Amino acid sequence: MTDLSPTKDILDPIEIASRDEISALQEKRMAWSLRHAYDNSPFYKKQFDDYGAHPDDFKTLADLAKFPFTLKQDLRDTYPFGMFATPRQDLVRIHGSSGTTGKPTVVGYTQNDIDNWADLVARSIRAGGGRKGDICHVAYGYGLFTGGLGAHYGAERLGCTVVPISGGMTERQVTLIQDFQPQIIMVTPSYMLSILDEFRAKGIDPRESSLKVGIFGAEPWTNAMREEIEQAFDMHAVDIYGLSEVMGPGVAQECVETKDGLHVWEDHFYPEIIDPATGEVLPDGEMGELVFTTLTKEGLPMVRYRTRDLTRILPGTARSMRRIEKITGRSDDMIILRGVNVFPTQIEEQILKCEGLAPHFQIELSRKGRMDVMTVHVESTPARSDSDARDASARELSHHIKSVVGVSTKIEVHDPETVARSEGKAKRVVDNRPKS
Ligand code: DLL
Repeated sequence: MTDLSPTKDILDPIEIASRDEISALQEKRMAWSLRHAYDNSPFYKKQFDDYGAHPDDFKTLADLAKFPFTLKQDLRDTYPFGMFATPRQDLVRIHGSSGTTGKPTVVGYTQNDIDNWADLVARSIRAGGGRKGDICHVAYGYGLFTGGLGAHYGAERLGCTVVPISGGMTERQVTLIQDFQPQIIMVTPSYMLSILDEFRAKGIDPRESSLKVGIFGAEPWTNAMREEIEQAFDMHAVDIYGLSEVMGPGVAQECVETKDGLHVWEDHFYPEIIDPATGEVLPDGEMGELVFTTLTKEGLPMVRYRTRDLTRILPGTARSMRRIEKITGRSDDMIILRGVNVFPTQIEEQILKCEGLAPHFQIELSRKGRMDVMTVHVESTPARSDSDARDASARELSHHIKSVVGVSTKIEVHDPETVARSEGKAKRVVDNRPKS
């Protein structure tokens, strides 16, 4: 793989500033952000007043713990425009969630917000190994989802030639990669696997493709999956994280030279890890729920937004800004099976250890009598799809899951190309248990 490490002179000065400089900037910006939220968003005014907190209480970063959390439910309750801190006329863009569970949520951006977002995604692509002049194939979905347009504006800001293909039409994705010869692809890791299948179906060696770096995010994925994709395409695979409530893609990004977790762009977002049960702030290094406060956002400032994403904060390495470990999963996606907590990423890791299995999978939950049953639906690779090989793969996977994750599961190994594919975020868990 090509060495894509950046030289220091192309980084933003703040990326390599001292911790003291970063903290000083955060403190100044945090004071502004709390004051802005309180003075301009009726939601936050009420929220702070009810909680007995006031922007004047904030003197140092440790004082943030005195402020209340914001929840996804708050966005639903104020749907569509009730949380904004600027007049609606000052918003130049709206994004939102698809609203598969309950009402959708809406987020809004001023022109400054859009500019900061483009800068941060540009910084993220550069950290991932992209450069001015590269061709960037954007296969995140365009629309209310922040993936497509977020990646698009960032890639343009870096000086790339953007191919705004969006998700879907997998055959055409491969044709355009062959024709345009992009160096960068931005897409969900699960959809990258569908693109990989299409390369193989067309008899094209993916290792011969022009791609040098894939910037993958919007869903949890493992280091085992990184290895799978890097091997298949002979390219770098790095992680990009973000969420619409806080901005979109580009809140945190992994550096190509270290691939050791994602640096949070701390000049714009302040991360905390809390105990999800008590709300208590945990020290760096401990696992818990990730919480963000925005430091510069005008349209929709977020104060202590509970992401539900589980990870821990680690010190900076390639950049001075702190890292988050690859996200294990969302607390909402955690399966509790006979008392054991299971995340889809743990299953993914075990599948990738079994040679006869392809990394396409779905977890089905059902009930037998009073017992919850977990079935892992996974595909065999075309080379090992006879029934003996499949049985052996099922036994191997079941054994790995039992010994590493600690639960007994039913494994169903299906024919190649039969497990549901995603064109965006993969749906890993299907819950068929009767609703009680
Ligand atoms: O998924 C923004 C995004 C687009 C990020 C493209 C990266 C690339 P939402 O649709 O609001 O925004 O979903 C946010 O997706 O809270 C996580 O649970 C999950 N997520 C996003 N990135 C990652 C990642 C976009 N790198 C939710 N690893 C977040 C694990 C991720 N989970």
